[in-house]
Amino acid sequence: MTHPSAKSPRPGEQKLATDPAQMPQNAGIIFIGHIETPWKTTQDCPRNGRGSDAVCRVHLRPAFREGLASVETCSHLYLLYWMHQARRDLVVQAPSFAARPHGCFALRSPIRPNPVALSVVELVAMRPDGFDVRGLDCVDGTPLVDIKPYFAGTDSVPQARVGWREEEES
Ligand SMILES: C[S@@+](CC[C@H](N)C(=O)[O-])C[C@H]1O[C@@H](n2cnc3c(N)ncnc32)[C@H](O)[C@@H]1O
Repeated sequence: MTHPSAKSPRPGEQKLATDPAQMPQNAGIIFIGHIETPWKTTQDCPRNGRGSDAVCRVHLRPAFREGLASVETCSHLYLLYWMHQARRDLVVQAPSFAARPHGCFALRSPIRPNPVALSVVELVAMRPDGFDVRGLDCVDGTPLVDIKPYFAGTDSVPQARVGWREEEES
């Protein structure tokens, strides 16, 4: 689905100079399931998963459910999902909350060449066809790409910085 504003970038934004359809493409991603959330449109969603306590339901396709063995022992997971409603043609963007434009790879925007999103979620309950989590920010029906355990000891980087955000907040 093409985003309604796909043809009208904001001031400072920059579209891709090359048609992405002409670039090498071979990922062959399989959607392993989908995510059920309370949000029917992108405007309804929290900006990131930490902005909501809503419990969301992760549904796995039957073929992949055996892959959930031992997931019940994890308190937190990474979910990777496919922002299927996002435009993919902006390399520089001007988000409404930012003071100036930034490159798509300096942003957590769903607008990027490959609209993969990620969140660290809290596992709330296992279910016969998947599990419930807290900490998501996507539209109801968003396709699921992958699930991984969150290892606090190796994944957490407390001193990590995003300089442009600190500058804008100061
Ligand atoms: C800023 S992104 C962050 C996504 C993810 N937590 C990340 O960091 O990669 C979250 C926003 O994407 C938008 N969004 C949610 N689901 C979407 C979908 N399926 N397709 C396109 N945009 C979506 C909503 O506006 C939501 O507030």
